[in-house]
Amino acid sequence: MVRIAPSILSADFANLERDILAVSDADWLHVDVMDGHFVPNLTLGLPIVTRICEVAPIPVDVHLMIDDPDSWAVRYADAGAGSVTFHFEAAADPVGLARRLRAAGVRAAVALKPATPVERAIELLAEVDMVLLMTVEPGFGGQEFMEDVMPKFEALRAAADASGSEVWIQADGGVARETIATVVRAGADTLVAGSAVYGAADRNAEVRALRDLANGEHHH
Ligand code: DX5
Ligand code: ZN
Repeated sequence: MVRIAPSILSADFANLERDILAVSDADWLHVDVMDGHFVPNLTLGLPIVTRICEVAPIPVDVHLMIDDPDSWAVRYADAGAGSVTFHFEAAADPVGLARRLRAAGVRAAVALKPATPVERAIELLAEVDMVLLMTVEPGFGGQEFMEDVMPKFEALRAAADASGSEVWIQADGGVARETIATVVRAGADTLVAGSAVYGAADRNAEVRALRDLANGEHHH
């Protein structure tokens, strides 16, 4: 079974609790933390994530697009997240950080930008619970899905299966009805969708539609 994680980047930030409750049928709530340095955009930080974790009816999946995750990531675990993802490109000590996240009681995850070789994640397979492969350049919602990232999913899925790893493989960026089958066939099992879910009139219905489409392609 695949997992669907709506991204609140495309929610109405003036009605955040309403828009969080609108995706209660999803598996995870994806929260994009951007600092205006690692990526050009700026979103929200610890105080808001703390409140999101308190009101969310489903576990929170924090995606940190920030410099110096070594100093900040564990605070998001302490804030109540269920999963914390840091970017490999920003981390000084990815292994140490993943271990500290697991010790803090959350799922530890590493993210790679589209141009970062998938080998950087394969080397970390024993240390992480999920790998996020970006299917757009991080920073903004509503961008076009990058199909040329699919070989990275295939290589990661093959490496995970070969090593008996139970790692989750997450796709983030441009996932929608038109693209979800492609990325699931390539090996993803955890799908972030921002504009696709929040652009729909019935957000929970869109979550279920995406899940049904993805499960139709999923064979793991
Ligand atoms: C982009 C964020 C994504 C974003 C995806 O940097 O990491 O989570 O919300 O938005 P869509 O699904 O619209 O591409
Ligand atoms: Zn994200």
